[in-house]
Amino acid sequence: MKEIEDHEKTFDGDNIRDFVDLFIQAKHGESENSLFTLDNLFYVILDLFIAGSETTSNTLNWSLLFMQEYPDVQMKCQQEIEEKYGGRSVTWADRGTLPFVDATLMEIQRLSNIAEMSIPHTNENEAILRGFRIPKDSIIQANIYSSHMDPLYWDEPRQFNPERFLQDGKIKKNKAFMPFSIGPRMCLGENLAKMEIFLIFTNFLQRFTFKRENDDIRHSFDCIFEQLTSAPLPYKTRPISRV
Ligand code: HEM
Repeated sequence: MKEIEDHEKTFDGDNIRDFVDLFIQAKHGESENSLFTLDNLFYVILDLFIAGSETTSNTLNWSLLFMQEYPDVQMKCQQEIEEKYGGRSVTWADRGTLPFVDATLMEIQRLSNIAEMSIPHTNENEAILRGFRIPKDSIIQANIYSSHMDPLYWDEPRQFNPERFLQDGKIKKNKAFMPFSIGPRMCLGENLAKMEIFLIFTNFLQRFTFKRENDDIRHSFDCIFEQLTSAPLPYKTRPISRV
């Protein structure tokens, strides 16, 4: 709030410095009941920090755990990156060229389920869904976890198996895969999250192999809930340099 107040005091319409300035500018021309209020600005920023940072960092946290626990998958990802790009850094322009890496990241998202449920939504009108009446103004949450673990859609859903997302060397879609939810209120940051995860994951694996702290002790895949999303139980990993 202090940051926002400072921005208000020093606002100069000819020199828009950042998102907060842009919001303040939009607020100026608006009527009294506008949604461009300082309170809303505060919550938008909160959304970006919570929804935008913990989600991606927890997914990366899970991905390193999966790599140290499944060294064969880690090696296959590394081989694919090496065959395509040798030692040069992987960039976002390279997306779509590493199917095994993509399949591995999808399988990590499916099993880690960092957002097990969607955000609560409400219906403005009564609806009938498969014979069930859903009264107006109900609170509705989609169960993403159940979709990701449903044996109707996944063969041996508890197994970590990136190959399930591949067919003839290409990504095979599965409509039950929805880590970012679906519909008009699905995750706003999907593209940003995918970019961050792809870049960090590939460039990490290119430079390091992640190993268990103790070779003989398997780490649990149980989870704990951080603010909003699930994270692995704390673990130590050993990044062994490959360069
Ligand atoms: C791996 C990373 C992420 C996952 C798995 C994820 C997942 C989700 C899920 C499941 C929802 C609920 C959608 C619903 O209720 O139907 C959601 C909403 C949202 N996410 Fe993400 N998210 C991720 C990263 C991000 C990032 C990086 C940002 C922003 C920079 C972001 C911003 C939002 C916002 C603003 C909403 C609310 C959208 C709305 O209500 O219209 N998320 N996300």
